[in-house]
This record gives sequence, C-alpha cells and structure tokens, in this order.
Amino acid sequence: MHKKVAVVTGSSSGIGAATARLFAKNGYNVVINFSRSPEPADAVADECRALGADVLVMKANVAEDADCRALAKAVTEKWGRADALVNNAGTTKFVAAKDLEGLSAQDFHDIYSVNVIGAYQMIRAFAPLMKKNPGAGIVNISSVASVSGIGSSIAYMASKGALNAMTSGMARTLAPEIRVNAVGPGMVETPWLQNGLGAEQYEARRQGYIAVTPLAATIQPEDVADACYWLCAGARKTTGEFILIDSGLVKYPTLGVR
Ligand SMILES: NC(=O)c1ccc[n+]([C@@H]2O[C@H](COP(=O)([O-])OP(=O)(O)OC[C@H]3O[C@@H](n4cnc5c(N)ncnc54)[C@H](OP(=O)(O)O)[C@@H]3O)[C@@H](O)[C@H]2O)c1
Repeated sequence: MHKKVAVVTGSSSGIGAATARLFAKNGYNVVINFSRSPEPADAVADECRALGADVLVMKANVAEDADCRALAKAVTEKWGRADALVNNAGTTKFVAAKDLEGLSAQDFHDIYSVNVIGAYQMIRAFAPLMKKNPGAGIVNISSVASVSGIGSSIAYMASKGALNAMTSGMARTLAPEIRVNAVGPGMVETPWLQNGLGAEQYEARRQGYIAVTPLAATIQPEDVADACYWLCAGARKTTGEFILIDSGLVKYPTLGVR
C-alpha cells in the first residue's frame, strides 16, 4: 500500500511550501506544484524528500482545466490515491480600493480564473480519486480579505468571498466521502506581500498588523500549514467551515486597547 498522498497547489513558495513540508514530515507523499518557476519547486521537493516523502513535482496552471486533469492523472498513475488537496495557488493585482478605475473586467477574470475557477477545476479533477479514501479532506486557502473589506484589491476580496461560498457548496456536494473547508489567513510573511507592496510599505504594514491584533503577531506560513494539516488529517466531523488564522484581526481588533 502506498502512503497517504497530499496535493498542494502553488507549493513552490510561502504557505504552499510550508504545507507540503508539514504533510511530508507527517508521513505523506506530496505533490509540489507551480506554474512558472521550476527551481523553487525543486528546492521544496528536495526538502520533502529529506523528510521521507516520495515527491511528484509538476508544472500546472490551475486556471487551465487540462493541467488540473493532467495532474490528477499523474497522481493516479504514480500512487493511485489522493487523501488531501490544498487549493493554495492564488493570484492578485495590487490596486488601491479607492481606485475604481484601476481594475478592469479582464483583471477580475484573471483573478477569478485562478482563485475560484482554478480551485473548482482541481476539486473536480481530484474528487473521483479522493472519494475512494474515507475521510479525505480538501482545504481552500481563502483570506481575511474575504470578510474584512481589506486586501490587495476589490477583485481579490471578491474572489476569496466566492471561494468561501464555493467551499460551502462543495462541502454539501462531496459529503459524506470528502470534507471541504477553507482557511482565512491574515498577513502572512511570504514573498506575496513582500513583492506586491515593496520593502518599505511591507514593513509599515507589518508593524501596523502587530499593533492592531490581540496576539500582536503577523502570521507565519507554518501557522497556516498547521490548520491545513489538521483540517485534512484530523477534523473528522468538520466540513464547510471557514477558519480565520489572523491573530484575532477581524473579530477582536485591539482598537488601541490591549
Ligand atoms: N501572503 C499573505 O499575506 C496571504 C494572506 C491571505 C491569503 N493568502 C493566500 O495564500 C495563497 C498562497 O500565498 P503565498 O503568500 O504563499 O504566496 P507566494 O509565496 O507568492 O506563493 C504562491 C505560489 O503559487 C504558485 N502559483 C501562482 N499562480 C499559480 C497558478 N495559476 N497555478 C499554479 N500555481 C500557481 C506560485 O508558483 P509560480 O509563480 O511558479 O506559479 C507559488 O508557488 C494564495 O492563495 C493567497 O491568496 C496569502
């Protein structure tokens, strides 16, 4: 019998890489996926192998249905099973919320094609294989932006809200065999915001985040990985949930009081 298998999209960096490493550490074989740069994916794959995992590294753009189906076919041929799917690959365009002219219809399409349609296509491609393993789990990486009205752009916030709604629908649709949940990270220290905001604005945002959260902390990729692992490997009676991982930002902002 093969070991359990975790498929993590966008796992060459940040949250996805931390999640793949955690599954590998816990005895899973893992898929490392990327859409552009192979070198970081190979580096994460080596880390996972060092943790004992058999690894499939595969370039696949989740916005392309043929790529999602090819990924599912490759996993079926290599291991014949998939126990966990983490839809982590995401994209955005950084546009100030007040700049309504800064977002075009095409921008919405581009962001939705990865953040919403990509997750849908991955779930559709993997559901038949995952249904064979009772207790299989899917986690969609959403964002605090889906519920806070704060984020890299209105299109991004809307896409993550749509992902939350899709999580609810998929939880009903794929039950009882597969559980489907979402997590909403706050400010996570990955290249995503570092590249998007630039060094100076990033550091200001980081200090601001620490100031307004009860836990006085930004989020590390490993914090999100912990939740993903629990929702897939444990959480046997939890489905359709959206769990914030935001140091209390949304529900309990400090409002200057600690
Ligand atoms: N960082 C934050 O503060 C934060 C907060 C809340 C939610 N999130 C969410 O967390 C997820 C991961 O973010 P991160 O911060 O870890 O970003 P990151 O470090 O920039 O990593 C993004 C990963 O996704 C891959 N990717 C991008 N587009 C893809 C596509 N179309 N198909 C397959 N892979 C793709 C990238 O590889 P390639 O470039 O080679 O494709 C990379 O491996 C995203 O869904 C994001 O919305 C992040």
